[in-house]
Amino acid sequence: MKKHHQKETLTNQQGHPVTDNQNARTVGKRGPMVLENYDFLEKISHFDREKIPERIVHARGAGAYGYFESYGELDGEPLSKYTRAKVFEKGKQTPVFVRFSTVNHGKHSPETLRDPRGFAVKFYTEDGNWDLVGNNLKIFFIRDPIKFPDFVHAFQPDPVTNIQDPERIMDFVSQSPEATHMITFLFSPWGIPANYRYMQGSGVHAYRWVNAEGKAVLVKYHWEPVQGIKNLTQTEANQIQGENFNHATEDLYNAIEEGNYPEWELYVQIMEEGEHPELDFDPLDPTKLWYRDQFPWHKVGKMVLNDNPKNYHAEVEQSAFGTGVLVDGLDFSDDKLLQGRTYSYSDTQRYRVGPNYLQLPINSPIKGIRTNQNGGQMDYRTDYAEDKSPHINYEPSALDGYLEAENPGEEHEPYVEGHIVRDPIERQNHFGQAGETYRRMNEWEQNELINNLVNALSQCHETIQNHMIENLTKADSEYGKRVAQGLNDPNATPDPKLNSDEIGHPSDPY
Ligand code: HEM
Repeated sequence: MKKHHQKETLTNQQGHPVTDNQNARTVGKRGPMVLENYDFLEKISHFDREKIPERIVHARGAGAYGYFESYGELDGEPLSKYTRAKVFEKGKQTPVFVRFSTVNHGKHSPETLRDPRGFAVKFYTEDGNWDLVGNNLKIFFIRDPIKFPDFVHAFQPDPVTNIQDPERIMDFVSQSPEATHMITFLFSPWGIPANYRYMQGSGVHAYRWVNAEGKAVLVKYHWEPVQGIKNLTQTEANQIQGENFNHATEDLYNAIEEGNYPEWELYVQIMEEGEHPELDFDPLDPTKLWYRDQFPWHKVGKMVLNDNPKNYHAEVEQSAFGTGVLVDGLDFSDDKLLQGRTYSYSDTQRYRVGPNYLQLPINSPIKGIRTNQNGGQMDYRTDYAEDKSPHINYEPSALDGYLEAENPGEEHEPYVEGHIVRDPIERQNHFGQAGETYRRMNEWEQNELINNLVNALSQCHETIQNHMIENLTKADSEYGKRVAQGLNDPNATPDPKLNSDEIGHPSDPY
């Protein structure tokens, strides 16, 4: 840490100088303390409240600032053909804040754990904030949001022992066949990225882009690290964890301090609107890839992270992302998992940070806000328009107040009809892509996947083992067979070739 000249003197939060920060006020030197000891009371009471509730998932994270620059083109065509979002105008630079995270353990847990990694980007655009709240992996475990709390309970520590338990994880997964594909990624080296700088990011869901005519396409977003992708074997992760359980936060912070700014390029995949009956999966199903050989990745911009937060709590812990936070030209798709998320994020943030969480500098848009929303704890208003009557905090008004904004473009009005039902989607195809993903892995990745699954399943009840073998066999017969063999005979699976050059560097045919 750099030494600075010490010039400023301490105050308390009322602005009073603190002249003795070593001794509380007492009756005589030995005590007891007196209660009219404002400096002590303020200091200790604030300390008692230093923490806020952890995020229910993604509690462990690291953040950084930077910018996004749009290339403005998609394979030589202007991006405005697909979206009127100003953030995608050619050459436009937009400030961003990114928070990377692990998912299932507490705020200071090791960063080497097998877990998806969060990749949440807040774009402070001229039209207000856009949050792209993604993960490093390109798919998800489940496709119906009603399953999310159960999925998280199974993956988080046991409510009795407070220890994460492979048996609880595999129990849930074996009964949720749609999770087979994600598990195939998670138990392979893709489940432990080397650190945050060497991992991809993905919006996972299909979203929509809307152009000036109100015409929409389906779009998926992917961040590709310019540094390259690097994943860890379980053995490598164990070695790192034995020495350092903050390695990813440390790596990101130090790289930025040293001016070695990490970069990612943003790619999109595009699909015409519609149900696409020609596919053997539903394009809105978040457990499915749009394989890049069928739906090419198009490069549309780059992001550079070049500044560290000044204060972790104020900026990283209190940052609040949500999938509902979109700007003009970007829209939702009908993916039901996405709608479930959109409710959940802002709901938890009103509890976790407070009802006025959007007034904190890290969360508030750079564009001025002008709302009639009033009050609540810690209301800190800056939106008193000079030419507006402060009495009119409602709309409509014939006297004064804010007017409705003009719609910046043709409204996109998707058509939906149907009975209100409780039904899964058609074309669930739980296992097809799980098998394909297994077959597309390198040999070292397959070996590692089998070893990790065998290790986890060997701690499970036989019923769970059998369910899992059945599911994996449906995905790919060799895949199922190798896991079954591994469980019968621990020597049946080859050790990964740890010294091989290809270890760590995946190919990405997904
Ligand atoms: C129904 C499904 C899901 C629900 C209900 C859900 C809910 C949540 C909640 C409640 C949080 C904590 C937010 C906070 O306290 O600020 C969170 C964080 C997060 N979720 Fe999800 N999630 C879901 C699926 C997903 C998926 C599919 C992804 C990836 C595409 C994802 C990525 C993230 C990330 C990156 C964070 C951390 C954001 C940050 O850094 O502050 N989640 N999620």
